[in-house]
Amino acid sequence: MRSEHPAITVARSPEQDGTRSATAVAHPNIALVKYWGKRDERLMLPWTDSLSMTLDVFPTTTRVRLGPAAGRDEATLDGAPATGEALRRITAFLELVREMSGSDRRAVVESTNTVPTGAGLASSASGFAALAVAAAAAYGLDLDATALSRLARRGSGSAARSVFGGFAVWHAGRDAGTDADADRCSYAEPVPTADIDPALVVAVVDAGPKSVSSREAMRRTVGTSPLYRPWAASSSQDLEEMRAALRRGDLAAVGEIAERNALGMHATMLAARPAVRYLSSATVTVLDCVLRLRRDGVPAYATMDAGPNVKVLCHRTDAERVAEAVRGAAPRASVLVAGPGHGARLLSEGT
Ligand code: PMV
Repeated sequence: MRSEHPAITVARSPEQDGTRSATAVAHPNIALVKYWGKRDERLMLPWTDSLSMTLDVFPTTTRVRLGPAAGRDEATLDGAPATGEALRRITAFLELVREMSGSDRRAVVESTNTVPTGAGLASSASGFAALAVAAAAAYGLDLDATALSRLARRGSGSAARSVFGGFAVWHAGRDAGTDADADRCSYAEPVPTADIDPALVVAVVDAGPKSVSSREAMRRTVGTSPLYRPWAASSSQDLEEMRAALRRGDLAAVGEIAERNALGMHATMLAARPAVRYLSSATVTVLDCVLRLRRDGVPAYATMDAGPNVKVLCHRTDAERVAEAVRGAAPRASVLVAGPGHGARLLSEGT
């Protein structure tokens, strides 16, 4: 085991050469205070803290089955063999789990996503949270939720938050001492929240893959956007105000902070050189609809990630009205209502 994970207890399988398998499920999360920009790409350490709500829709179910030590890892995503960058990321993640467990066995990964992959709907968050839980179990690692969150982070930053249900904050941590110290400081945990009865109305205006990966877009934004530093500074203020708003159960304040934080994040990208623009005319149509809802007295607030799709935060009791308004404004969008969902969990384990 590498010194990077000294806090993790390792329970090796009694049958080192037998078949071991584990299946886990995880849901995507939508950030209300965004993660945008890595300070360390290898350790997946962000520049800023972020805060999200895990959804009760679009689960990813992932099975990990151990094979012999010889050969390669194999993976299927929705039944199709993973290749290229997708397979490289899965293999790199499994390497990490092998280092932690002291095993050299290859794995067969089967993952089924119910969210359009790569469309800024956080499929990588549910994907790597489910893979972390299933792989840890298959390789016989006995990890608590914090350690699973750190592990999931190494696959995709936002996956650190999908280990938990409801609202979760991901600590950026700090760089002091060794890599192992930095790694230990950056994990997600649940956020104390009064009941705000939240819903997120998800408007999928385009389910196609994004033109620029979030990894490349973050790199470009951090490297070239004059707006990045001011946004990062205001984001830490947003996070403190968001925590307070959640504690007192103030949905309007939560929504206002989420909307300004997301628009600010997109502004940093628009100012990058060359610009990264995920928002489309359909996005703006939905944003106009959200403004009209607010003018009509419905507390509704928009957030967008690395894609043109819009998620509208509102009270669950207003969700159908909000969904109808969005359908009316953007008839080609597919619109559904999500609530807070559970954290990642193991479904089954076997030999
Ligand atoms: O974890 P990634 O690389 O898919 O980054 C996603 C970042 C955003 O979704 C845009 C924001 C966030 O905090 O989830």
